[in-house]
Amino acid sequence: MNYGPLIYFGVVTSLVASWLGFVAVPRTQLGSLQPDVSTNAANAVVSYPAARSGEAAQGRDLYQSLGCSSCHTLQVRPQTGGSDIARGWGKRRSVARDYLQDPVPLLGNSRLGPDLANYGERLGTNAFPVIRLFNPRLVTPGSICAPVPFLFETRPIRAGVGSPEALPLKGAAAPDAGSEVVPGLRARQLAAFLSSLSTSVDLPEAALPVTEETAQK
Ligand code: HEC
Repeated sequence: MNYGPLIYFGVVTSLVASWLGFVAVPRTQLGSLQPDVSTNAANAVVSYPAARSGEAAQGRDLYQSLGCSSCHTLQVRPQTGGSDIARGWGKRRSVARDYLQDPVPLLGNSRLGPDLANYGERLGTNAFPVIRLFNPRLVTPGSICAPVPFLFETRPIRAGVGSPEALPLKGAAAPDAGSEVVPGLRARQLAAFLSSLSTSVDLPEAALPVTEETAQK
């Protein structure tokens, strides 16, 4: 018997079915997704997600090229799918809209370190501890987080006055006398990206949990 037409039909069917499943259906579901526009408490129109500042957008490219995604995710799993929310990594699950402003959604491929989807929010009013990029062990002893000291510059202290940005390095980590270690442009960009990470916005598809504070409003 000639199985040619059957094999041909089988191959075409599986190609069409996977194109429908992986391209056409997701495209109709998510292709026209737009930023969520709402008014805030001060009656100003706000759009979420907002475009990242130029500095933070360049930091995002660095985050991608330095391989931070091999240990950190930028996605909060739903309450039914893990303990991310209980751990304080986010107030709600991550949804497709959260990634609209990023050319590549940096979901991450394993989680050796904590999820960073809301890292900026966890920082609160504190500035990003940029020394963590130089050597994470100066912040968390024994940390396996990747150090990126090549984003910093060691330079002579100018006119005897140290830079306010100089890292407070002590002991063996301290630079030679008369020198200081300051964050370079790329360290500042990465810090701006990490500080910009926040997804705690009420969306129609993923509402924020009602807390005592929000219930009173
Ligand atoms: C080998 C895995 C690994 C890689 C690669 C890695 N990290 Fe980490 N990271 C960790 C671990 C583990 C922790 C938790 C321990 C600590 O606080 O240092 C962490 C913690 C952090 C934290 C603090 C998170 C919090 O909630 O306090 C930040 C910010 C961070 N990493 C940023 C980065 C950036 C930026 C990169 C890329 C340059 C990166 N990490 C690459 C493993 C990694």
